[in-house]
Amino acid sequence: MSSQIIKENDLIFLILDEKRRWLVQVKSGGNFHTHRGIIEFNDIIGKNFGSVVFSRPFETQGYKFYILKPLPSDYILHMIRKTQIIYPEDAGMILIYSGIGPGSVVIEAGSGSGALTCILGNFVRPNGHIYTYDINEKSLKRTKQNVMKAKLDDVITVQYGDILNDYFEQKNVDAVVLDMATPWSAVKKVKNYLKFSGTLVSFSPTIEQVKKTVLSMRENDFIEINTYELIKRKIQVKEKATRPEVRMIGHTGYLTFGKKIKNMKNPYREQKPKVPKTIDMNNMPFRG
Ligand SMILES: C[S@@+](CC[C@H](N)C(=O)[O-])C[C@H]1O[C@@H](n2cnc3c(N)ncnc32)[C@H](O)[C@@H]1O
Repeated sequence: MSSQIIKENDLIFLILDEKRRWLVQVKSGGNFHTHRGIIEFNDIIGKNFGSVVFSRPFETQGYKFYILKPLPSDYILHMIRKTQIIYPEDAGMILIYSGIGPGSVVIEAGSGSGALTCILGNFVRPNGHIYTYDINEKSLKRTKQNVMKAKLDDVITVQYGDILNDYFEQKNVDAVVLDMATPWSAVKKVKNYLKFSGTLVSFSPTIEQVKKTVLSMRENDFIEINTYELIKRKIQVKEKATRPEVRMIGHTGYLTFGKKIKNMKNPYREQKPKVPKTIDMNNMPFRG
């Protein structure tokens, strides 16, 4: 079990209310300014996750903040981000339907803001690895920052790399995860990195991208190709108004999964002599 005591450099999830919540790194002697007062980190270090802290100055502010241990979903939604990121529900499906878990080795393109990278890194620990590639220097910088902040740099390598044109040295990886504009152009190439029975996952916001990707996966002998869309609805619970919240994210993207197979022709069925298409008319009864 991981430590419950908050230490120097730990990340905490600081919550004031439903809307105001932050992912913060605790530094001895440092503080965090909010419009409801200042949180002194020395008031937090040594406390248990799951405690509360009050903002200073106590006399004029003194608001109560909750301190939780961040979950992967908190990393995603509260990290530094500039690109469209993967949402927690989609990340959950990626994990379950790809089989990515402790010990898995994964190639990801592109890194974007590193939201999915951090989720994957969190799940392949302690002995797996994520190799994430991007062609955009700003994305690489942001991903590196987020990976460091989440303390996942021992299981994640962030590197410049063009999945369409460069050659990566990883072989027999358990999964390749694509979140980029033209995933269909990468299918043939990434197949070489995957082990047999490994999973290719592609996340795309539009159906046009999905169609091209699925066709390319079929052409490249992937099997078990399936596409899904997840719709998550949060339920508001009130005394006389318990129902789905009015505002929601209506669409995140489509997830396509497929498996690499070592295909071969079927020597028993595909070479069987074909049954002649002509019909023998001898002895057929005819109407008079
Ligand atoms: C939507 S973002 C990925 C977001 C990421 N999944 C996240 O959760 O933060 C798409 C990224 O793909 C990168 N990209 C586009 N083409 C690429 C290629 N050929 N090779 C590697 N990365 C590429 C872009 O630079 C961009 O940063």
